[in-house]
Amino acid sequence: MRFSGASSGAAHRQWYRAIADHYDGFANPVWMGRTEVFLDRLFRRHGIGNAVDVACGTFAIDLRLAKRGYEIVGRDLSPDMIRVGRRALRMAGLRADLGVADMRTLRVRRKFDAVLCLGTAFNYLAEPRDVRLALRSFRHLLRPGGLLVLDLTNFDAFIDRPMNVRTEMDYRTSDGTRIGIFGFNDQNPSKTVHIARFLTVVQRGRDIRIGFDEAPLKVWRKEGIARALAREGFRLVEWWGDLRVGSQYRRKTSPRLVVVACAPDRTGKFRETP
Ligand SMILES: C[S@@+](CC[C@H](N)C(=O)[O-])C[C@H]1O[C@@H](n2cnc3c(N)ncnc32)[C@H](O)[C@@H]1O
Repeated sequence: MRFSGASSGAAHRQWYRAIADHYDGFANPVWMGRTEVFLDRLFRRHGIGNAVDVACGTFAIDLRLAKRGYEIVGRDLSPDMIRVGRRALRMAGLRADLGVADMRTLRVRRKFDAVLCLGTAFNYLAEPRDVRLALRSFRHLLRPGGLLVLDLTNFDAFIDRPMNVRTEMDYRTSDGTRIGIFGFNDQNPSKTVHIARFLTVVQRGRDIRIGFDEAPLKVWRKEGIARALAREGFRLVEWWGDLRVGSQYRRKTSPRLVVVACAPDRTGKFRETP
């Protein structure tokens, strides 16, 4: 048995190392399909042909978009998630620019029609300085008038009655590997930070590995993210309650808080949105 430790940076990397190969197996294909259609519609409405996904994980959603003809560049902090993404690309016979990077300091020598930050990745930035750095890096990556899509956890729907102890996953892969993920969370008294903890056990035959990840997640509310985006020069364009076509945002029930914002154009003004 090996324990992967319990501190932030290195443990986070090790936790993703433990689960990266199985991550896509956890994904719900129905949810993935809906997300793909939602993003495709959004891209069509706003004339988006290319995008950078700044926390692309295993590139699974992006791969679907790439198959539809969009040019997607992927970056992620975890080398193991990127390794799995590259393997998926090879298997699909596609090519894309994928690499390891931190969204707070990400620079790519070109501009994009859109920046994507999906699946709670932005909530990982719990310190105001990190949020500012990331939003500046997103502005830098966008062409004038480009679009930012942030997909956040809608904490407002459950933060007052959190289910802090639960089994997240009991999963068996086709090769017989067994994965159990147990979640036990916590919040600070003012409920501005949610501490997500996962205990993960992976069994392959007689080999059992135990990993632990603890990540403070920033509890974003609609007003707070609106202010943070406006401060960094973005204009709010759309709100959604899920990455699903037509899912209106409802504070107390929506699973997600999806915000679409626009960078100013060359003249410093905002273009009209369709
Ligand atoms: C919950 S996963 C979501 C992955 C993918 N966006 C999706 O929706 O399937 C969060 C991802 O954010 C990445 N991540 C966390 N902090 C990051 C940072 N500062 N810069 C880039 N990626 C980061 C993690 O490595 C992980 O792959």
